[in-house]
Amino acid sequence: MSSQRLSNKVAIITGSSQGIGREICNQFSEEGALVVCSDLRPLGQGNDVATHEAITKKGGKAIFVSTDVSKADDWKALIAKTVQEFGRVDILVNNAGICTEANKPAPIDEVDEDAFDAHLRINSRGVFLGCKYVIQQMKKQEIHQSSGLRGWIVNFASMVSNIGMAGLTGYTASKGAVSAMTKTIALDVAKQGIVVNAICPGFTKTAMLDNALGAGASTDGGALGSSAARDAVLAALPRGRFGEAKDHARAAVYLASDDAAWVTGILLNVDGGLTAQ
Ligand SMILES: NC(=O)c1ccc[n+]([C@@H]2O[C@H](COP(=O)([O-])OP(=O)(O)OC[C@H]3O[C@@H](n4cnc5c(N)ncnc54)[C@H](O)[C@@H]3O)[C@@H](O)[C@H]2O)c1
Repeated sequence: MSSQRLSNKVAIITGSSQGIGREICNQFSEEGALVVCSDLRPLGQGNDVATHEAITKKGGKAIFVSTDVSKADDWKALIAKTVQEFGRVDILVNNAGICTEANKPAPIDEVDEDAFDAHLRINSRGVFLGCKYVIQQMKKQEIHQSSGLRGWIVNFASMVSNIGMAGLTGYTASKGAVSAMTKTIALDVAKQGIVVNAICPGFTKTAMLDNALGAGASTDGGALGSSAARDAVLAALPRGRFGEAKDHARAAVYLASDDAAWVTGILLNVDGGLTAQ
């Protein structure tokens, strides 16, 4: 039985169909939130039941709204649908992201310009648009009596907001923008009772990690379960294991809860100690 820390709060989660986003939806529902799942499509890699359907089957409340986070019109429609369905928006988790460069890392003088732009468009512009349109909605809403807050935003930055990673110029630039934006937006809306924070994940077992380290890297004992790349990364992790989607979902619950009422503009490293070194 969970502590119901998000009881009756309405939460939009982007990139909800797989990986970290799917687990955030599950944990938020366990904590009592009404969940709006948003992604390009409802069914993610490796799942045979859509996230919102799995939550509904377990007795939670969830809907799916197809959204491309890089498009302003999609954001307007997503927020309108959420308000139509649940009356307001309390929480936004900007989790959707891509790291296509991981397939083909390139030094700066060889970076593909379209790939660079795509990272900025989805990872940075997606977060910018989400914050812009959800804050317009949150500002119209009443303050929550329990916390004195009007809204909670959790952005997904990355360990590469803190450290460089050779071959990933577009991805690192896009995540640096997320961490910088998070602090500025937090200041823009602090007086309105909206808190804005970011999580910086380290290497975490999802499709994105498979993409970076080879198929099966996210599955212990998978096809490339003991590849040199995987072993080298593991050896550099102070906690001695990859992150799990749940590690980030629990951090997101905290940052979206009344417990974080006086926490804003922070970058929370959830990386097993990687960037403490
Ligand atoms: N997994 C890691 O090791 C790691 C490390 C650092 C940061 N992160 C960040 O955590 C977040 C979640 O990553 P993950 O590992 O779960 O990735 P993932 O690839 O498993 O899932 C990403 C989700 O985002 C969705 N998405 C992609 N483009 C979209 C768009 N234009 N509009 C809407 N949705 C879109 C995908 O469909 C997918 O469901 C990302 O922002 C990622 O950059 C992950």
